[in-house]
Amino acid sequence: MRTPLIAANFKMNKNLDEAFNYFNELKKLTADTKNVEIVVATPHLLLYPLTQSVKNTNIQLSAQNVHWEDSGAFTAETSPKTLKAIGINYTILGHSERRKMFCETDETVNKRIKNALKNNLKIIFCIGESLDQRENNETIKVITEQVKKGLKSVSKEEMNNISIAYEPIWAIGTGKTATPEQAQEVHKKIREILNDIYGNEISQKTRILYGGSVKPNNIKDLISQNDIDGALVGGASLKAESFFEIISQSSK
Ligand code: PGA
Repeated sequence: MRTPLIAANFKMNKNLDEAFNYFNELKKLTADTKNVEIVVATPHLLLYPLTQSVKNTNIQLSAQNVHWEDSGAFTAETSPKTLKAIGINYTILGHSERRKMFCETDETVNKRIKNALKNNLKIIFCIGESLDQRENNETIKVITEQVKKGLKSVSKEEMNNISIAYEPIWAIGTGKTATPEQAQEVHKKIREILNDIYGNEISQKTRILYGGSVKPNNIKDLISQNDIDGALVGGASLKAESFFEIISQSSK
């Protein structure tokens, strides 16, 4: 049985005061939440002060990216080692906004994954096709390539620290969600790819999240699909109440 993982992606939103208020509210709302893992990826500047706010709660903080080296001349990048040292245990990697706007490739995502794993971070590894690719029937080809290249030389043991987020680019921030059936079809395929690479045990254990305009009114139908094990939520995670509604409807 895979415990659902519900992750918020704040992207470049909220200042410190707003984030403190948000966490105060979310902590109260989720105090009795069980059987769902809750992760919030805030802007990196806010992570350290917020570690105090989430102490002794069931909310975990996450970064939104990390570099493939631990230190060096990499202006404005974030070292996974530095994150670990302040008590952060999660990072998102390979988000489509990083791929599209900041020239991330499957190769650089793989390098970041390898170094995050070396530093014992848990990873939400994002993949997803563009609208053009979907309309040209290339979805499965694109997904297969992203999974294989992104996970190149990642071992079976290391897969224990990886969840995959399937986020069709055309559904991110657009209000257009993939239908539960469209999402399930791709999630099932991702599990088959994992089965080919790592075998049945890892493929059954790995959580595959859906992302792209997840809202309180569509999470139930998505999470009820066999191979959907959680969600990566952007816009609808920015209000504690709406993020909590998504969390509370996600225990399977
Ligand atoms: P969205 O973003 O929920 O606003 O579509 C999801 C994401 O980018 O992870």
